[in-house]
Formats: sequence, C-alpha cells, structure tokens
Amino acid sequence: MRTQLAEFMRRMEPGSVAVIPAAPEATRSNDTHYRYRQDSDFYYLTGFDEPEAIAFVAPAHPERKFMLFVRPRDPEQETWTGRRAGVVGAKERHGADAAFPVTEFREKLAELLNGARTVYYRLGVHPDLDEALIKQLAEMRTRSRQFTAPDSITDPGAILGEMRLVKSDAEIELMQRAADIGAEAHVLAMQNVRPGMYEYEIEALIEYHFRKSGAAAPAYGTICGGGANATILHYITNDAPLRDGDLVLVDAGAEYQGYASDITRTFPVNGRFTAPQREIYEAVLAAQTACVEMVKPSVTWDDLNDRAARMLTESMLRLGLLEGDVDRLIEEKTYRRFFMHGVGHFLGLDVHDAGRYKLDGEPRPLDPGVVVTVEPGIYVAEDAEGVPDRYRGIGVRIEDDVLVTGDGHRVLTSKVPKGIEEIEKLMAH
Ligand code: GLY
Ligand code: MN
Ligand code: MN
Repeated sequence: MRTQLAEFMRRMEPGSVAVIPAAPEATRSNDTHYRYRQDSDFYYLTGFDEPEAIAFVAPAHPERKFMLFVRPRDPEQETWTGRRAGVVGAKERHGADAAFPVTEFREKLAELLNGARTVYYRLGVHPDLDEALIKQLAEMRTRSRQFTAPDSITDPGAILGEMRLVKSDAEIELMQRAADIGAEAHVLAMQNVRPGMYEYEIEALIEYHFRKSGAAAPAYGTICGGGANATILHYITNDAPLRDGDLVLVDAGAEYQGYASDITRTFPVNGRFTAPQREIYEAVLAAQTACVEMVKPSVTWDDLNDRAARMLTESMLRLGLLEGDVDRLIEEKTYRRFFMHGVGHFLGLDVHDAGRYKLDGEPRPLDPGVVVTVEPGIYVAEDAEGVPDRYRGIGVRIEDDVLVTGDGHRVLTSKVPKGIEEIEKLMAH
C-alpha cells in the first residue's frame, strides 16, 4: 500500500471510514474542458489520476481497507477521451483491495457506512455527493434496527494538511525537479528577452521549457508584467510590449508530477538596471535574502513577516516612499501601500499548499521537511501619490522556494540568479 495512504489510516480515528472523491472535470467553454488536474488530497493518497473516482478508506475492515470506485473500461468512450484503468487496473495497478464502477457507489453507500462512528468527508466541494451522503445518513438513522449510522462527518483536511505539509524524501526530489525546471525557464527568459518583444513571448518561452521538460503545466497562471504591469499582483494578461528601460516581473513555476515550484524574478528588459530600479531592487533583495537566511526549524511566519516588514519599511523611509517613525509605520502596517501581500506560503502539491499557519491560535514553528516560499516585494503604482517620481511604475518581487532542513534550510531555486551583477552578466551573453 502507498505509504501516504497507510499513514492516513493510522491517523484516522478508531472506527472511522473516509470518502475521498476525485476532482470534477472543469468546463472551459461550452463542451470543452480544461486539461484534467486531480484533486491534491485524492492524488496524494491514491496516485490515481482519473476523474469520476471515489476512494473509500476503511482501516478496520479485514480485507477491503482501500476501495476505488472508478469509471469502468468502455472502448467506445476511451476512443474519445482516453484510456481508463477500469476496475481491474484499479486493483492491479493502483493497489485497491476492491474496485467497482463509480455508478455503484451510491447503492453501496449504506453498507459501506454501516457501523462506522465517523465518516471523513469534505463537505461543500461536491454538492451532489454532499446531498447523497447526507440523505443516506438520514435514511440510515430512520432504519436504526438495520443500520448504525456514523455520528459525525469530519473534514479529512486537518489530517491530510498536516501530512502534506511535511514532505518525504521522495516528495522533496520531485519538488527539486519542479524547482529546477522552473529555474531553468527563468534563466531562458533572462537570456532571451529583448525590447519590443511581447510579454506573451516570455510566457511562451517559459511554458515551452516546462512542457519540454516533462512538467504537466505551469503550477499557476504565469505572470509576465513589463513596466507598471509588475505592480499588478496577479497580472496574467501578458499582452503588452516590453519596453526598453523597463523591468519585467516574471512569476512562473512548473508543476512536475503534481508538485509545484513558484519562482519570481524581476529583471531589466534591456539587460541593465537603471538607478531607481536598482534602488528598489536592492531593498527587496536585502529583505528577501535576510528572510531566506532565517528559515530553519522553530522559526515562525510571524518572525519572517516581521523581518520583511521592518526591512522594507526602513528602505521605504530611506527612499522617500514613506515618512514618519519606523516603529509606528510598522505597527500601523503603512508599508502595505507598497508591500501588500505576505512574505510567503507553504508549497507542495498546491502552490498555496495545505497545512495550518497557526496552531491553537499561536504562530506555528516551521518543521524540517516543510517547503515555503520567501517572496517580499515593493510595488509603486504608476499613479501613486506623494512618492518620488523616479519610482513610479516600478514593481519588484523576488521569490525562492526553500526547504526547511534539520538544522537550517536549502534553497531549491538557487539555479536562477537574483543578484544584480549576476543577472546583468547572464543577460549580457
Ligand atoms: N505565484 C503565486 C504566488 O506567488 O503566491
Ligand atoms: Mn508564491
Ligand atoms: Mn509566485
């Protein structure tokens, strides 16, 4: 059995069962779909990559601890939409103790739930399944001589989130590969960008490298923002020309075998930073480097956010973006005018990965095996008021992926430079 599934079973309450559905397919328009992306929890537990599947987990069952309900083989359908494992493949290739066509799930549900004290199931994501489950529980309660219905529906996310947060060696290898592919793509972008190119050409170059390297897709919508577009945090339009003398902010990461990288670099379109760009860039780089250096077990998100806020506020004061008393500006979060997001997030199967940021209301210390991003930025809108002219329309973010190790950290994304000299040197060739 897959180790993740065995560990999940070990952590489930005694006498419980779990219903974990695959992600639904997503319509793009009319009758065309987005390329299928499996639900991260489902994929983590099963490694099964087909839609319309449900995993049923029953640790106390003598034989059928792991059942898969799947799309049955169907030569005609498979001609249109691709190969299916079917019930035989679900058992032989995916380790299910038993497998059935997914159409039989509802009729088997009462029997499956009977006698369990708790059912782990995430409500609110699959409305049809929510309704079927709730109706089934209600019906079982009215037929109490025949059935013993579970008392509670519990979200499995608490267990799965904690498991997914701490990466195994095998997961770290995949994340390193995702990070390498991402880093190589950023290097290509730096080497190939020229004034007059369009933002989408950089996007295309990056995503070409992802696919060519075996990554399934970008882990999120690639951001290529030239000039003031860099000050729009989720800019994915990417349709403007890149101008001589502007910076371009590229936030792009690959998804490799389910695992994300998430990298941002900001570099000059013509290969040379101007003085004002350099001033903002150095401020962000100093904060980013300091925060990366802090990453080790026992450090908390509050520690990292506080450090970034202090360093960036001090720089904003020095550059004339803010005025006043540094402690007060931090206290009142005035820096949020130019640094409006957090310093980072957990990274894994999801780009904003599972796992709690606080434990019992307290900041959570980072543990070995956790992967985080560190990504401070300064964004000065084109029409920002009361700021020196020279900084208007400059947006800089620098983002690395960092693994917490037993005694410190390892930067997974170090293959792409971030120092001004290194970037200018790379771009000069
Ligand atoms: N690219 C998404 C993020 O940086 O959080
Ligand atoms: Mn990020
Ligand atoms: Mn990012």
